[in-house]
Amino acid sequence: MSRPLVSFHDLRPGADDLAADVLAGFSRAQKSIPPKYFYDAEGSRLFDAITRLPEYYPTRTETALLREYADEIAQKAGTGHLLVEPGSGSCTKARILFEGLQPCAYVPMDIAGDHLHVAAQEVAVDFPWLEVHATCIDFTRLMTLPPDTPEGRRLAFFPGSSIGNFDPDAAVGFLGMIADMVGPGGQLLIGVDLKKDKAVLEAAYDDARGVTAAFNLNLLTRINRELGADFDLAQWRHKALYNEAQGRIEMHLVSRVAQLVSLQGRTFRFAAGETIHTENSYKYSVAEFRELASRAGFATDTVWVDADRLFSLHLLQTGNAHAT
Ligand code: TRP
Repeated sequence: MSRPLVSFHDLRPGADDLAADVLAGFSRAQKSIPPKYFYDAEGSRLFDAITRLPEYYPTRTETALLREYADEIAQKAGTGHLLVEPGSGSCTKARILFEGLQPCAYVPMDIAGDHLHVAAQEVAVDFPWLEVHATCIDFTRLMTLPPDTPEGRRLAFFPGSSIGNFDPDAAVGFLGMIADMVGPGGQLLIGVDLKKDKAVLEAAYDDARGVTAAFNLNLLTRINRELGADFDLAQWRHKALYNEAQGRIEMHLVSRVAQLVSLQGRTFRFAAGETIHTENSYKYSVAEFRELASRAGFATDTVWVDADRLFSLHLLQTGNAHAT
């Protein structure tokens, strides 16, 4: 008898959301586009290429930490959880943990539905003992678990320093959503990029080969295709800068000239040098992140940091059910 290796749940947002979010973002003094729209098929492919760039240290550093401490993580976190991963992408990092954690099921969640489908299926093939319940969802809004997931202690996994892509207050709100999802006594294993030298940070977000630039510019290609806009890609360039006061990398698309862009029957004016802000990536010290997590009701169990102090991995847990 064969059972389905992987179940797939589709709660993906529609094209209406993109139109509404882009129009709202372009109506502000500092124009912006929400970063979740990076991940169409080409964006997901380019993002995977970013993670392999020599300048982009976070992925290989975090991966090395997960490999080195996989046993210790399982010792501290326990085994047999329902393992839930918002923004699972290619599911590469969770694979490192399966053997030690022996989860009762794995719930990868991602906004990029087709990419998720393939990645989840590959996990199911490589780990035939593992139940996989993939969910295509905008996890920044909703963390609904599929109806057929087994009961069990919940461990959320949020690697990649994706928490840095929220502003600090929104990060507390999002961690609170995770705390609600895992429930009292639930846990979170989260990867957080550390503050460091400005040149190292800026190179990580503006590589010599221009992959990050292509990833950023692909947003405009997507908006042209899906919303019938007329962005001329040659008139835009990628920019990444470390804003030291705010402790964040900012990614922008810079208008090379004064230009008009039409989109859904509206016309937007861009001055020469004006930018569309596409993403922030906040960097934290270990102490700063610990404090942020505590504002969301998480206590720190263990923190692992690499020898060069580039990246941190935090195991957190929610308090018990009693009110304080
Ligand atoms: N969250 C990661 C980071 O901020 C990965 C990431 C998201 C990223 N968007 C990116 C990396 C754009 C490079 C470019 O580092």
